[in-house]
Amino acid sequence: MYRTHTCGELRLTDLNNNVTLAGWVQRIRKFGGMIFIDLRDRYGITQLVFNQQTNATLCEQANGLGREFVIQVSGTIAERSNKNPNIPTGEIEIIVSELKILNPSEIPPFTIEDETDGGDDIRMKYRYLDLRRTPVRANLELRHQIAFATRAYLNNLNFLEVETPVLVGSTPEGARDFVVPSRMNPGEFYALPQSPQTLKQLLMVSGFDRYFQIVKCFRDEDLRADRQPEFTQIDCEMSFIEQEDILNTFEGLTKYLFKTVKNISLPDFPRMSYAEAMNRFGSDKPDIRFGMEFVEIKDLTTGKDFGVFDNAEYVAAICAENCASYTRKQLDELTNFVKRPQIGASGLIYVRYEVDGSIKSSVDKFYTPEELKTWLDRANAKPGDLLFVLCGKREKTQKQLCELRLEMGSRLGFRKKDDYQCLWVVDFPLLEFDEELNRYFAKHHPFTSPKPEDISKMDSDPGAVRANAYDLVINGVEIGGGSIRIFDSELQKKMFKLLGFSNEQAQAQFGFLMNAFQYGAPPHGGIAFGLDRLVSIFAGLDSIRDCIAFPKNNSGRDVMLDAPSQLSQEQLDELYLKIKNS
Ligand code: AMO
Repeated sequence: MYRTHTCGELRLTDLNNNVTLAGWVQRIRKFGGMIFIDLRDRYGITQLVFNQQTNATLCEQANGLGREFVIQVSGTIAERSNKNPNIPTGEIEIIVSELKILNPSEIPPFTIEDETDGGDDIRMKYRYLDLRRTPVRANLELRHQIAFATRAYLNNLNFLEVETPVLVGSTPEGARDFVVPSRMNPGEFYALPQSPQTLKQLLMVSGFDRYFQIVKCFRDEDLRADRQPEFTQIDCEMSFIEQEDILNTFEGLTKYLFKTVKNISLPDFPRMSYAEAMNRFGSDKPDIRFGMEFVEIKDLTTGKDFGVFDNAEYVAAICAENCASYTRKQLDELTNFVKRPQIGASGLIYVRYEVDGSIKSSVDKFYTPEELKTWLDRANAKPGDLLFVLCGKREKTQKQLCELRLEMGSRLGFRKKDDYQCLWVVDFPLLEFDEELNRYFAKHHPFTSPKPEDISKMDSDPGAVRANAYDLVINGVEIGGGSIRIFDSELQKKMFKLLGFSNEQAQAQFGFLMNAFQYGAPPHGGIAFGLDRLVSIFAGLDSIRDCIAFPKNNSGRDVMLDAPSQLSQEQLDELYLKIKNS
């Protein structure tokens, strides 16, 4: 037997017992004739003691140990004179009587402790060592708990977990596909699924009624803190339901997860239409942990010879409470923030409402204090507050002001990680117009159903058609999205036409689904949560990378496996692939 106990479970109640433990040497300390070793495994740390006076040979052996050696020890449990209240085993230690080195270790490239000296790159290269660290391991434990509780909740509601294939066909909508060449079908490629969307709809046609899958999805998009090229969805679909049923079921799942995993009881989630979210927060995933809502002031600003505002489609402000005392430097910093290429504002205008009631602004040349006061009043500003104003094209400016609002929210401490505010955003537009390509794209995906009352606008005013589509947002992060699907093939044809597909193109790409719909498709809809994002919100992480065992870096590389990598000429030949020399 390698061990009688783990390194996390022994307590004072076990005093004088003989035990055997196995694990990794985390730390070695030597004091006079004593050697103290912290022995670590997944469950915790236990202190081992070797005494020169009572067992010199053993002490000699312990002297040869190094960090991360794998050892097995036997001994008796004693009470520690110098207790460590910070760990559950801190009241006891093992007086070692036997030591066996199971495997020595090279000196690790960084210290394997909660606070490590290892930078990002080195920790990614040696991810298997990084995973030995408690905070990283805790994220994976949390991930397991969430996945486990999700399965329990959905199983209880009669959902069936069904696996769908990973080698599927490429679809033109959505993100870019990862593709896999087919050796047996020269010149042809599989694609890895961006989501099991069409397959889960087919399962509804098959009568499965309530499907879920905790499933890997693949998207070849540029990476960000909340995006990985392969990520995991809690993917679901239901038949004979309406939007309300989906929202209730998955609000229920979210509440259940918060209760079972974090012991937090969440109140009912508010709902907001897409249009309202854009107008009030400039985002379809507003962070509602704080106010600072947008106030439109275009009407108050025009006609005063300030061309910048006069020519702008949209002028809006946010009010930062108690920030009138911001220094020039702070204002410059924020101006530079909005002018960064990622945000792209041309400048930032401010109005200070001083504590003494006086008003100063960066546009004093154009507006009297009385005129500026009308802006402040509309924003409900009080003396001591600071107003920020941005202007330009409506959508672009809303995005910029949203970034500024989030930045101010962070600076003012309004975005606390343990304050969880959930929100349903509903009534998304069905379509999105791409100016460059001069065509409509499905905002969610081509199978999303328009709201019945808006179907009549599909020909006359497609951009105004709202969809039965919804997103779950937590603390400004899009956690999940879904929709009620089109199940009527005539409506589906109409949708493809709007998206610029000819009948032939639609048949070629989605014929399998459209044909299936000829054989009795039930009304259905679904949703998918991003598991990685959900876990990182629960763990209070800034990046989803930290809750993935083996993530990719920002260039989409696995630096540990050194993937992607080149293929040999034989492999390329076998796959009928030619690499173009650049
Ligand atoms: P959608 O594309 O909105 O919907 O994706 C659902 C959720 O998946 C997560 N997500 C990601 N997480 C990490 N990295 C990524 N690159 C990434 N992309 C998406 C997000 C998102 O909310 N088939 C539909 C769902 C449906 O209609 O039922 C779909 O995939 O949390």
